Amino acid sequence: MTGPRKLYIKSYGCQMNVYDSLRMADMLAPDGFAETKDVAEADLVVLNTCHIREKAAEKVYSEIGRLRVLKDEAAKDGRKVTIAVAGCVAQAEGAEIMRRAPVVDLVVGPQSYHRLPALLDQAARGERPVETEFPAEDKFNFLKNPTRDAIRARGVSAFLTIQEGCDKFCTFCVVPYTRGAEVSRPVEKILAEAERLAAAGVREITAIGQNVNAYHGDGPDGTTWTLARLFERLAQIPGIDRLRYTTSHPRDVDDSLVAVHRDLPELMPQLHLPVQSGSDRILDAMNRKHTRDDYLRVIERLRKAQPALAFTSDFIVGFPGETDRDFTDTLKLIEEVGFCGAFSFKYSPRPGTPAADMDDQVPEHVMTERLHELQLLIDRQMAAFNKACVGKTLDVLFEKTGRHPGQIAGKSPYLQPVQVMAPASLIGTIASVRIDDTGSYSLFGTLADEVGNRVPERPNLAALEA
Ligand code: 5AD
Ligand code: SF4
Repeated sequence: MTGPRKLYIKSYGCQMNVYDSLRMADMLAPDGFAETKDVAEADLVVLNTCHIREKAAEKVYSEIGRLRVLKDEAAKDGRKVTIAVAGCVAQAEGAEIMRRAPVVDLVVGPQSYHRLPALLDQAARGERPVETEFPAEDKFNFLKNPTRDAIRARGVSAFLTIQEGCDKFCTFCVVPYTRGAEVSRPVEKILAEAERLAAAGVREITAIGQNVNAYHGDGPDGTTWTLARLFERLAQIPGIDRLRYTTSHPRDVDDSLVAVHRDLPELMPQLHLPVQSGSDRILDAMNRKHTRDDYLRVIERLRKAQPALAFTSDFIVGFPGETDRDFTDTLKLIEEVGFCGAFSFKYSPRPGTPAADMDDQVPEHVMTERLHELQLLIDRQMAAFNKACVGKTLDVLFEKTGRHPGQIAGKSPYLQPVQVMAPASLIGTIASVRIDDTGSYSLFGTLADEVGNRVPERPNLAALEA
């Protein structure tokens, strides 16, 4: 193939898509595609789409409308722009996209993007391929590794897919249909990828998967490894100072995972643990397979093992049949747990999911009010959490230059953005920072050695909750 050609990838939705977009870029790099941030100069545009809520899916069609204009303009200059739709909308709607949007040249589902170069060849011949089968082969065996330079350009914190798909079948969720059954990648493949990342300067790895704590991968010793065991091994890789995981299910928090939160300093003390609702009636209708009490007990076990842990969660308001009382139960659960942040959504009926056909769909204005009330409560909890950090010393992994000259920016163990006046040479390293102030989004601090503090060897924020 000839080069250089320009590739523009737009990612919607979750971290899985962010990761997949990078891997698509890696897949296309050997064919001479260089990434651009300017869609106007792209020869190939990939929309890596999300189908989780109706709004997310609709965004794709608006974007395709804009791309049609761009493609027409380029054609006037004798330039061909190829448009590919990837991700979960591609998986769910397949040929329907081709029908609705004649400007699209190819459609590829999340399990088939290793076939992108071949699909592009087909598109170049004027075919309009739609690849949404769940192929027999494992795409990871065909993906190209990123170059050292590509890893460096992406920064010191990286996502690593360890598991895909979900077997839980929550009644509102399309994931089991778009991403398929739960599959764990083998341990050795994950370690090799992590070692490559570390060797190129990555300090923090977030293990990702639709249901990541259900991880049960084949180990090199012939046994099945849990997520906890995988973390123990990942933590031994030189250079990997921080580990995180997302997103998890309360049912799959086993004792070994609780134990690594206590014993593994590399495992950061922040956990995203979606609960969706605080009402047992609604949790049952959602087929969440846990009660409100089960969730509270999981939180209690984790907090007992690691008092420094802070929690974030996902909430859906207005699930079919949700009454004021059910919603109040959700607010009470939030009060009881005390979150440091959360994502919250209005229920969105997804075609083909059981909840879409349930009676008692909740009116839009009720969902709007409930969402607002829930978000106010979460915002208050987040502000209180951030305020409690003022005066404390937190380890910050510096990632980039900051908003103002002389500033650099990084993340605390709790994923809070932290801005510090410090030399750019600290980017890519972890340093202790005394937190002086909070903004609406970021924390502001001073390097701890400048204020004469002892530099802690590891994040220890047990005192935070006090
Ligand atoms: N409507 C609203 N929110 C949803 N989510 C998943 N499906 C839906 C839906 N149909 C939310 C859940 C999930 C997060 C990724 O998206 O809270 O945890
Ligand atoms: Fe969807 Fe439930 Fe699986 Fe999460 S656990 S991906 S919400 S089906």
